[in-house]
Amino acid sequence: MKTPIDTAIVAKAIDESKVHNVQRASIREVVRLVNTIEKLSGTKFVRMEMGVPGINAEKVGVEAEIESLKRGVASIYPDIEGIKELKDEASRFIKLFLDINISPSGIVPTVGSMQGGFCAFLMCARRDVNKTTTLFIDPGFPVQKQQHKVLGIPVEQFDVYNYRGEKLAEKLESYLKTGKIASIVYSNPNNPSWICFTDDELKTIGTLAKKYDVIVIEDLAYFGMDFRQDYSVPGQAPFQPTVAKYTDNYMLMISSSKIFSYAGQRIGILAISDTLYHRTFPDLKRYFTSDSFGFAAIYGALYALSSGTCHSAQFALAAMFKAVNDGAANLTASVKEYEKRASLMKELFVKYGFNIVYDTDLGRPLANGFYFTISYPGYTGGELVEELLPYGISAITLDITGSERKEGLRACVSQVRMEQIPVLEERLKIFYENHK
Ligand SMILES: Cc1ncc(COP(=O)(O)O)c(C=O)c1O
Repeated sequence: MKTPIDTAIVAKAIDESKVHNVQRASIREVVRLVNTIEKLSGTKFVRMEMGVPGINAEKVGVEAEIESLKRGVASIYPDIEGIKELKDEASRFIKLFLDINISPSGIVPTVGSMQGGFCAFLMCARRDVNKTTTLFIDPGFPVQKQQHKVLGIPVEQFDVYNYRGEKLAEKLESYLKTGKIASIVYSNPNNPSWICFTDDELKTIGTLAKKYDVIVIEDLAYFGMDFRQDYSVPGQAPFQPTVAKYTDNYMLMISSSKIFSYAGQRIGILAISDTLYHRTFPDLKRYFTSDSFGFAAIYGALYALSSGTCHSAQFALAAMFKAVNDGAANLTASVKEYEKRASLMKELFVKYGFNIVYDTDLGRPLANGFYFTISYPGYTGGELVEELLPYGISAITLDITGSERKEGLRACVSQVRMEQIPVLEERLKIFYENHK
């Protein structure tokens, strides 16, 4: 069977890699393996395994960062609480694009949402001796489970696909009733399935969080990227939906990586609701000098993690928030590119015999965005990842995202450039010929 890349080369690369099980490989392990195959074969992959932005970083951020470096911020430890400019602009951003009030004091810069999550998970799991466990509304971002492993925090999870809409409350309550759930985590839009919760579903989550005193950690890494709506006009409805409308017990994570294509500088914000920021939990004293949630999160957890966030990157993010807040730049104009790519790529996969796994959003067509999910008849996700490698196509399994859909893969559109679309078609065509 002829394949675009010699199967012997793929086998050699797998053999030489430290990846013991390609079918369960993490995102970064797949990245490493594909780099090796590209080097050995001289063939460029259509890379869909990792969410690296495929768009240039926002210029206004880069310029602000350079300016701040010229002013000499590199030699000075940044304040852990964050620079005033960033805290103020982030608070404005949250008001203008979510229609929510959070005081600048509760908004702190983090080394990407990766660090924001790490801090949020550990704070939530340590505030009450009886509330030890994080509940993931899956599928989700796999490395957040790895963070839990590293932290020693127990996890419960379920795949939300079968519990959308009115079914969500009963399912959530079955976990919350145990009394051991400290926090609920999800991303919206969802990585990897790209489903988006409705206001009714967010209301369910918020109301139950209040009832059972559970903290909601809302991961907005793909802020505004449900392109079926235009969430990009500051201060004007529709606003990006958020659980913050329905509970005071929440933290929001807003990453610069995808919305501003600023992944390389590792900066995001963790925004703690005013109520939660000021709440006290005696059990926090086991780990921190203060029992005040916000103070302990900043001067206990974030201090211990990295003593603050890169000074110049804070100026960059402040400038990018300011530009969209002032209406000088449009929040989603550049990332809308992903919508076009996703639509073309999905069409090709379907044309050549693949199925879209998470295919509808409460009966509505799914939005086209950063990710979509695929399967091929007769293959598990793990088998399919391996089977696609000789065709120069890489992705990750849905299995590692907490999905029940073991046959599925997550495909990320960001690194696939428009000029690669014909290459993708050519390879899928050969795949189809070889497998039909
Ligand atoms: C859902 C989700 N959360 C968090 C992150 C991490 O964001 P950051 O680059 O800000 O650490 C990602 C990155 O892919 C993500 O998809």
